[in-house]
Amino acid sequence: MMSKFMEWVDARFPATKMWEDHLSKYYAPKNFNFFYFFGSLALLVLVNQIVTGVWLTMSYTPSAEQAFASVEYIMRDVEYGWILRYLHSTGASAFFVVVYLHMFRGLLYGSYQKPRELVWIFGMLIYLMLMAEAFMGYLLPWGQMSYWGAQVIISLFGAIPVIGADLTQWIRGDYLISGITLNRFFALHVVALPIVILGLVVLHILALHEVGSNNPDGVDIKKNKDENGIPLDGIAFHPYYTVKDIVGVVVFLFIFCFVIFFFPEMGGYFLEKPNFEAANPFKTPEHIAPVWYFTPFYAILRAVPDKLLGVIAMGAAIAVLFVLPWLDRSPVKSMRYKGWMSKVWLLIFCVSFVILGVLGVLSPTPGRTLLSQVCTFLYFAYFILMPFYTKLEKTKPVPERVTG
Ligand code: HEM
Repeated sequence: MMSKFMEWVDARFPATKMWEDHLSKYYAPKNFNFFYFFGSLALLVLVNQIVTGVWLTMSYTPSAEQAFASVEYIMRDVEYGWILRYLHSTGASAFFVVVYLHMFRGLLYGSYQKPRELVWIFGMLIYLMLMAEAFMGYLLPWGQMSYWGAQVIISLFGAIPVIGADLTQWIRGDYLISGITLNRFFALHVVALPIVILGLVVLHILALHEVGSNNPDGVDIKKNKDENGIPLDGIAFHPYYTVKDIVGVVVFLFIFCFVIFFFPEMGGYFLEKPNFEAANPFKTPEHIAPVWYFTPFYAILRAVPDKLLGVIAMGAAIAVLFVLPWLDRSPVKSMRYKGWMSKVWLLIFCVSFVILGVLGVLSPTPGRTLLSQVCTFLYFAYFILMPFYTKLEKTKPVPERVTG
């Protein structure tokens, strides 16, 4: 009965073909490790954000007069509203934790290298859109930090010569951040950007499945195939990795639920304290800091004394990641076979990124500013020097087959 039905469907829609191409006959390297959990986890968090977002929208009111109160209403009166909101707000932080680890895997195993440049570029576009999505979402509760955070970020566009002032007014739709700004951010956050992100995720996975997955050894598994054309080091994504990914999902959900039930605001890092006060355009909070996932870039912005140059440095810090596939000139992909310089520079980059993240939360002092300047310098040095150290260093021989 079922096979008759599938025959009927397949004659009209490539359901079985898609199932085979992307799951039951998609051969992935057999040596995926811990770092390969984060792609499927990113998908899980994306679905969580969309589902909880739809339900939040059912009770949220996007107006300057009622937004804050409607969020309180969700938290107190709507049945299970509190859990919907925390799933969504903690979900935003979880998204960035997962995506940062996912990107780190790319750096570690050279997954951005030929032929996966487009996989990386689509990934970077997702990252960019995700930042815009999170930024706009943060305005919606219309709390003090929503208002003043948006004020700081939008005013950065004012540093652009000639068009700056008009541009900020165009973004806000008003002379200051107002209900009009809130309304357009709502439309973008709830409709436009999720569609763009979903589309990019489809392109990201299609590009990956076109060239095949990389692996911790950086060995091309398509070079060694059996008589049926199946890679000797490959295993079918379904059932092997679908089952393995369930383990990652269970562990992730355990940690995620623990945070939601016991530390939903994470001491002010996931939901900042001033955001429990309604937005007040006449009262600037004492200390304005973005949410943790933006702070490395915020620290780069503050490290540069000139506002325009700071904005350029911040933009460049993200833009440089796009060209990464063309900066790495190493003959090998994985860090396992690269030389010591690549390893040291990756370590320097990660440590600088984390330090910048911490500094971005804190209020500036002369000492902290100096440290953020050193870390900004090292952040860029990692990329700018990459063509040289990846070319100069001695690499180890890459094995024919994956090692495990
Ligand atoms: C919504 C966000 C994202 C989702 C849902 C997503 C999903 C996925 C999935 C399911 C895979 C295959 C499984 C895996 O290799 O872990 C993958 C691979 C990959 N992703 Fe993403 N991704 C996202 C964001 C990003 C970002 C921001 C980047 C980097 C800028 C990125 C770069 C890559 C790369 C390079 C691969 C290939 C890895 C390899 O073959 O070793 N992704 N992604």
